[in-house]
Amino acid sequence: MTDDEHYSHIYLDTAASTPVADEVIEEMLPYLKERYGNPSSIHKFGRETARAINLARKRVAEMIGASSIREITFTSGGTEANNLALKGTAIHVQSKMPKKNMIITSSIEHDAVLEPCKDLEDRGFVTMHLPVTGEGFVRPSELKNVISDNVALVSIMYANNEVGTIQPIKELVEITHQAGALFHTDAVQAAGKLPLNVKNLGVDMMSLSSHKINGPKGVGALYIRSNLKILPIIHGGGQEWYLRSGTENVPGIVGFGKACELANKRMRHYQEHVAGLRNYVVERVLKEIPRSRLNGLRTERIANNAHFTFFGVNGEDLIIKLDENGIAASTGSACSVKKQKQSHVLKAMGFSYEEITGSLRLSLGMHNTKDEVDRAVNVLSSVIEELRELSPFESKYVG
Ligand SMILES: Cc1ncc(COP(=O)(O)O)c(C=O)c1O
Repeated sequence: MTDDEHYSHIYLDTAASTPVADEVIEEMLPYLKERYGNPSSIHKFGRETARAINLARKRVAEMIGASSIREITFTSGGTEANNLALKGTAIHVQSKMPKKNMIITSSIEHDAVLEPCKDLEDRGFVTMHLPVTGEGFVRPSELKNVISDNVALVSIMYANNEVGTIQPIKELVEITHQAGALFHTDAVQAAGKLPLNVKNLGVDMMSLSSHKINGPKGVGALYIRSNLKILPIIHGGGQEWYLRSGTENVPGIVGFGKACELANKRMRHYQEHVAGLRNYVVERVLKEIPRSRLNGLRTERIANNAHFTFFGVNGEDLIIKLDENGIAASTGSACSVKKQKQSHVLKAMGFSYEEITGSLRLSLGMHNTKDEVDRAVNVLSSVIEELRELSPFESKYVG
């Protein structure tokens, strides 16, 4: 792809990753150039980068309403934050209270939660996956029915990465705490799109990722409520409160901090701009493209997400055709594409093979314009018509 083609491509895949904001790059640059000290060093160079990390920690804490910077532990991203939350908590709790060997999660979590759960199963823990409704919601009553005092941890995502559903976290936290268990939420897709307040929600832990909120890749954080003890999963020099050893990714952390500050400031504008464009796309698609359906509800979904099923179309073919025509979109989770499996999220929502195969996720961002989304819907409409005409299973005479 030439540079010109790259810049004329319309990017509708912000659930996979986002462009790094100019302000973030500016803030990071000195830490890639002259400010290269190791934050653990005592000299001026070290103190300079240690101060920068502290400022970033403060900005992350502010974005989620944490009461102290001590509650923020930087990681290499959302995946590591989830691993730390799940393994670090489960192993610690069980060492103190051996009968607490159960973990409850949902059937629509990201692999960054499901896989650590599998790992814990191999170590003798019992995991339970709550079902979801056809619209992708965990029912608090389902949690109430199965929770017991054998449960060490409940981990339910705040917003889903494929269909964008927002879960009733506060209610789920209350049920969890009444049963004497801890609550973790993967808020990787919710951050920057919803105002987050860990204290109001009452969560014990929350995972965040920088590259979903216009920050750099390879950095994230785990919020851990004060006085909650969990065990590290990476051991070494004792950085990050002894919870995550290794010399800190200073430029990344600085960029993540700035991205959190920006996300916090622009929240209302983000919601207006991005949800406005998203609603417009949904209206046009449902009106203009026959046999299309929006998955999930119109409300209780994050501002950037529109997830459709186009009956009689193969989503993979659709993505390739869209890409050839200058539109970057996705069928679902970018992180599981390598595994070439059908979406476990859509399966859990009870979708048929055809409904899953014909699915498309458009996820928008601050960089998108009305003109872009108009062009995207026009292309989508004609590509779908073309694919349906080519399909051996489609007949024009079928209603
Ligand atoms: C809900 C959710 N959790 C976790 C992750 C993993 O985050 P990271 O890419 O920072 O490891 C993702 C990434 O797509 C995600 O969507």
